This record gives sequence, C-alpha cells and structure tokens, in this order.
Amino acid sequence: MNEAIHTADNNSAAMIRTLGVIALISGLLVVLVFEWTKPAIEQNKKEMIERAIFEVIPGATQRRDFVVSEQGIVAAEEASSDGYTVYAGYDDNGELIGIAAEGAAQGYADVIRLLYGYSPSCQCVTGMSVLKLAETPGLGDKIITDDDFVANFDALDARLNAEMSALANAIATVKSGSKKNPWEIDAISGATISSQAVGKAINDSTQRLLPLIVPRIERLKKQKHSTQRSQRTQRNAEVTSALNPNVNPNSLQESHFEAGIRPERRIQKTSANSASSAPSALNAFGDRT
Ligand SMILES: Cc1cc2nc3c(=O)[nH]c(=O)nc-3n(C[C@H](O)[C@H](O)[C@H](O)COP(=O)(O)O)c2cc1C
Repeated sequence: MNEAIHTADNNSAAMIRTLGVIALISGLLVVLVFEWTKPAIEQNKKEMIERAIFEVIPGATQRRDFVVSEQGIVAAEEASSDGYTVYAGYDDNGELIGIAAEGAAQGYADVIRLLYGYSPSCQCVTGMSVLKLAETPGLGDKIITDDDFVANFDALDARLNAEMSALANAIATVKSGSKKNPWEIDAISGATISSQAVGKAINDSTQRLLPLIVPRIERLKKQKHSTQRSQRTQRNAEVTSALNPNVNPNSLQESHFEAGIRPERRIQKTSANSASSAPSALNAFGDRT
C-alpha cells in the first residue's frame, strides 16, 4: 500500500518536472521569437510612419523629427526630456510645409491609431493615415477605404483661438451627411463609432499640440541639421548618381539641407556669420553650433 502511494508520488513529481521543463522551454521560445522579430517589427513600424508622414503632408520631400513639450520644441536627437514627437515636413528648398503628429482614440473594437498632417499656412489638417486598426472589415475599416470620409481631411479647419490656447472650434464628427462647418467630419453611415474615434483622436491631439507648436512655429522653420528625405527622394538621388557617376547622392542630400537654406539665403547667412552673429546661429534651433 505504502509502496503504491510512493510510486504515485514519484509519478506526479516526474510529471510536474516534465511540465516545468516544457513550460520553461516554451517561455524561452516565446522570448527568443519576440527578441528575434522585434527589430523587424520596429523597422516595419518606422517605415509605416515614414510613408504616412509624406502622405499626410502633401508636397513634403524631407522631414525632421522634434519633441514638443511645455518646455518648448527640441530636435528629437537632442531631446533629453519627455514630450510628444512630431514630424516636420519640408519641400526640396527646405521650406516648412507641414507637421505630422499621432493621435489615438477608442474605436468600436480597439484603439485606432493614426497620423495626421497639419499645415501652418491654412491652419488646417491636410491628411489622415491610419496606423493601427482592428475595426470590423466592411464597416469600421471604411475609415481607410471610403473616399468621401478620407476627403474630410483634405482641409479640416484647425485654427487656434485668439489666445492660442485651444482650437477656435473643436474638431467634431457629425452624423453622415450633416457636415456644415469646415471643422466638422462627416461620419460614415453604419460606422459612426469608428468615425467618431478618428475625430476624437485628431481633436485631442491638435488641442494638446497646436497651442504648444503654433506660437513657436519659427523654431520648426529653419533647418540647421540634415533631415531625412522621403524614400522616393532618396531613390531619385541614387538614380541620378547611377546615371551620372560624378554626382554623389550624399552631396546632393547635403546641399539640399544646408538646412533648407536656399543659395541666396546661404550667402546671407555666411556674411552674417562673418559679422559675428553668434546669437542668431544659436537661435536657429537653439542648438549649440
Ligand atoms: C458585428 C458588428 C460589428 C460592428 N462593427 C462596427 C465597427 O467596426 N465600427 C462602427 O463604427 N460600427 C460598427 N458596428 C455598428 C455599431 O454598433 C453602430 O451601430 C454604428 O456605429 C452606428 O452607426 P450609425 O449611427 O450610422 O448607424 C458594428 C455592429 C455590429 C453588429
């Protein structure tokens, strides 16, 4: 009798040991696969955001990232404190065209994450691109596929009030077909919840960011360091270089960037520098030179 109990105990212990080893190996495998795929996932995310930035800021060919907070606007590579990352988009001449930023809000099934573009010249949203979506196919995913809905973001009013403390008019989603004002978003019939999430994501983000950015917009205007060019512009430079081996694509890139400073402005800057204009050199971005 005792022997039978002893054997049963041994069997249970062996089973627990085996299960423990299996659980350990499974856990290790999960961690290994996670670590192994992490760089690829991060890279995909980066490429997705990169594509979306140039989509929501029409005409932009270069970008530079900044961190925005109550303390001000700092180039992302120099930011030491927390804040919101925004992406400034420039044309070939280095002129600021727009700013892209992320927004998120709860949709029907899960949180919808998106990127929108803002143009300082029209003080409006110039595009919206969905980064993460788990809404119902055929219903909620119409926020990507419905052309009429997407057209809401061609020039959505995002003016600030006189105090520059908030939007003059909160961005709001209204019932399909009832849009009357330029700050309203016409919802998709049968997918009002997803449509409202998009409106909330953009409204929350613009209300938070634009009062921090617009009063300091000059800070984004001058590029002192190199920006990242869109993949298409980069490819064009490489093709140019392949056709004309005497041209170095990197030198093309650098000449673009001398901070988006056009030749005539570059001359002014040089002569100003020689006249000892250290403060303005510092002020371009507040960076040390
Ligand atoms: C199975 C199921 C899935 C749904 N998926 C979504 C969705 O992804 N997004 C959404 O806005 N509404 C979805 N709805 C519809 C919402 O429940 C709601 O009826 C709708 O958003 C209201 O839009 P309306 O006021 O234009 O009718 C779904 C409904 C059902 C039954």
